[in-house]
Amino acid sequence: VNPPAGRTPAGRTLAGRRILVVGASSGIGRSTALAASRAGAGVAITARRRGDLDAAALDGGPHVRAFPADVTDADAVSAMVDDAVAWLGGLDTVVYAAGKATLSPLETTPAEVWQSTFATNVTGAAVVSALCLPHLRDGTYPGTVVLVSSHSVGEPWPGLVAYAASKAALDELGRGLAGEHPTLRVLRVVVGNTATGFADGWDAEAAGTALSRWFEAGYLRHRVLEPDEVADRIVAALADREPPGGRLEEVRIVGEEQPPAP
Ligand SMILES: NC(=O)c1ccc[n+]([C@@H]2O[C@H](COP(=O)([O-])OP(=O)(O)OC[C@H]3O[C@@H](n4cnc5c(N)ncnc54)[C@H](OP(=O)(O)O)[C@@H]3O)[C@@H](O)[C@H]2O)c1
Repeated sequence: VNPPAGRTPAGRTLAGRRILVVGASSGIGRSTALAASRAGAGVAITARRRGDLDAAALDGGPHVRAFPADVTDADAVSAMVDDAVAWLGGLDTVVYAAGKATLSPLETTPAEVWQSTFATNVTGAAVVSALCLPHLRDGTYPGTVVLVSSHSVGEPWPGLVAYAASKAALDELGRGLAGEHPTLRVLRVVVGNTATGFADGWDAEAAGTALSRWFEAGYLRHRVLEPDEVADRIVAALADREPPGGRLEEVRIVGEEQPPAP
């Protein structure tokens, strides 16, 4: 068990905390895991891509360890949580950053896309949270669940409606968790457009068309964030130690609005 409790200098605000970051092989989850580790936490990380996950663990040093799993495979998730909690020596916090989005207009979105989007973005979060709950209740710190949501909730971007609907469902999961477990802190992190590989799998031509449409309609009015600045805000929110209260907390991390290009 490696958490660096009790021997961390001032400023390492998460000293002694034991954190599981789900969706940490790249992007916001990866940055959050490494930022939490720099802040003194022991961090277990999970995702499907073993090579990228191992590379993140290597970058994080001895207090970050990789436990690969696919969040849509409940048995694999159960084994991953067991192994991660055993290595951490308990669990205070889970950050659910796993997510996927398929660019597809409603009219031609097949049922499989709806199903896989909800399996990753919602059901995975519910399964992980349920498995973590017994550990979170027993922790030294108030158990904390962080759900990475999106500013597209309430403003679904054309072509990404299944994604926005899944994030709205994720938010409702958070409200339910907070209501059923008033001793937990449950945070909905509303993230704006961030420079990650999230859209890497999209067809280039369809993405180009969608980008022009979003630009024209004002969806792209906010500065694009870097994953490290999102991660720093998440770590700051974890260090806050807000008392739990049976309600969903909201942390909004959206770039400032920019004037339209001349
Ligand atoms: N980038 C943005 O503009 C933006 C804006 C708002 C919200 N968000 C949210 O931020 C979160 C992180 O996204 P990102 O932008 O950092 O993109 P990303 O780099 O693609 O990260 C997505 C992460 O989810 C993991 N993941 C996906 N499917 C999984 C599965 N079945 N099992 C386990 N892990 C899985 C991926 O790992 P593997 O592929 O290795 O499994 C990866 O680590 C997502 O929830 C996304 O919805 C992003």
